[in-house]
Amino acid sequence: LPPAASSKLNIGQKLNEGKTKQIFELPDQPGLVLVQSKDQITAGNAARKDQMEGKAAIANKTTSCVFKLLQESGIKTAFVKQHSDTAFVAAHCEMIPIEWVCRRVATGSFLKRNPGVKEGFRFSPLKMEMFFKDDANNDPQWSEEQLLEAKFSLAGLTIGQCEVDIMNRSTVAIFEILEKAWATQNCTLVDMKIEFGVNVKTQEIVLADVIDNDSWRLWPAGDRSQQKDKQVYRDLKEVTPEAMQMVKRNFEWVSERVKLLLEPQASSRVVVLMGSTSDMAHCEKIRKACTSYGISCVLRVTSAHKGPDETLRIKAEYEGDGVPTVFVAVAGRSNGLGPVMSGNTAYPVINCPPLTPDWGSQDVWSSLRMPSGLGCSTIISPEAAAQFAAQIFGLTNHLVWCKLRASMLNTWVALKLADKKLQACSL
Ligand SMILES: Nc1ncnc2c1ncn2[C@@H]1O[C@H](COP(=O)(O)OP(=O)(O)OP(=O)(O)O)[C@@H](O)[C@H]1O
Ligand SMILES: *[C@@H]1O[C@H](CO)[C@@H](O)[C@H](O)[C@H]1NC(C)=O
Ligand SMILES: *[C@@H]1O[C@H](CO)[C@@H](O)[C@H](O)[C@H]1NC(C)=O
Ligand SMILES: *[C@@H]1O[C@H](CO)[C@@H](O)[C@H](O)[C@H]1NC(C)=O
Ligand SMILES: *[C@@H]1O[C@H](CO)[C@@H](O)[C@H](O)[C@H]1NC(C)=O
Ligand SMILES: [Mg+2]
Repeated sequence: LPPAASSKLNIGQKLNEGKTKQIFELPDQPGLVLVQSKDQITAGNAARKDQMEGKAAIANKTTSCVFKLLQESGIKTAFVKQHSDTAFVAAHCEMIPIEWVCRRVATGSFLKRNPGVKEGFRFSPLKMEMFFKDDANNDPQWSEEQLLEAKFSLAGLTIGQCEVDIMNRSTVAIFEILEKAWATQNCTLVDMKIEFGVNVKTQEIVLADVIDNDSWRLWPAGDRSQQKDKQVYRDLKEVTPEAMQMVKRNFEWVSERVKLLLEPQASSRVVVLMGSTSDMAHCEKIRKACTSYGISCVLRVTSAHKGPDETLRIKAEYEGDGVPTVFVAVAGRSNGLGPVMSGNTAYPVINCPPLTPDWGSQDVWSSLRMPSGLGCSTIISPEAAAQFAAQIFGLTNHLVWCKLRASMLNTWVALKLADKKLQACSL
């Protein structure tokens, strides 16, 4: 029995075993599996194999924090929950035998395959590559056409153009999210390799397997000589106990920092000012959308026409505590509130007037036509006003940015799947 069997989970048959982990059935939880890490390190296809105490626990931390970040951002992954130091529960997937590689900076095997390109060349947009998982042939690089012609069928889903496009787009989004998160630690995500599976229950394509420092290159302060990833291990001239300690210390460096990726590095606050509580329902929609981005939101009542002294006092309250703030002005009929705020604060102001069918097309001009020197924006939909505030905070708050990025991916995938379904129906 694996070490994880000690706690309550009822662990069934071993479904699969590879170089670094074992997969167990969970008889009481159909559709889920236990992914158990093995305490060893491999490089060059297990040509070099050393036991490394504590490795699995470090990998646990890395994988679970990275998957948590992606999950909280809104990326679909197989990860369900941590089970023990060395195991986690995941959705049972049939794995697509492709490694998707995404690069920001040219290094490693890319340089060998593309002679003339110097290490450090920056890819914008990101460079995508894929490799067929075939140990016997050293994981050959594949083209999109080769993947299409392979016509893989997994958990009842045939991997066609739509599925390939979804994996390609998802890899880019996942890279950008992790890159943004690592940047908060002054660390460059140089490249990354990931795998997708088809969830056997939902037939959805999800990020599966693991992401640990086996899966990426990380260069602190963009400096290759400080690399904290598995390359350190591959580069060892001789595997001495001292050298292995150094490798382990590097891995620990990563696993300590990976926790920080989940922590907000900047605070964010939306203050909704409404002219009257009759606009409460409109304001609640703004608050709800802010909450979905993890942005705190306070609602205040004030009228720039009838109580301008109070409006400016409330403004001063939020300017005075140092929390980065976006004001949203909700005022019906004549919007004096947004423009007065905008003329008196350096914080961004968004007008979000609750327009009514009878006078809306006239009222909106009080939000659009400004005296010179005012920079407030006007957004009609309350959800969109919150989204715009999130985009402002996303410039400095990586957790907000990651949610926006995942949401963009999910919208793109939903459109793609809707079109696929429609095409299938009309055939
Ligand atoms: N959620 C999951 N559901 C089912 N199988 C999974 C899941 N996550 C990972 N696996 C599979 O478990 C197997 C063991 O993983 P491991 O990484 O140890 O294999 P490996 O020896 O590295 O081989 P590979 O080159 O395929 O990664 C792999 O085939 C992997 O794809
Ligand atoms: C780093 O990757 C190695 C390589 O397999 C793994 O053993 C280790 O657990 C990882 N550590 C961290 C902190 O990610
Ligand atoms: C494994 O990861 C989980 C989630 O981050 C954490 O709660 C647990 O303490 C970790 N175990 C070890 C030994 O680090
Ligand atoms: C991924 O998509 C991009 C943009 O459409 C395309 O240029 C690239 O060839 C694709 N990569 C792979 C490996 O499919
Ligand atoms: C971040 O990296 C830069 C080099 O790119 C370095 O000069 C700077 O000191 C680093 N900052 C921190 C906080 O580590
Ligand atoms: Mg593997």
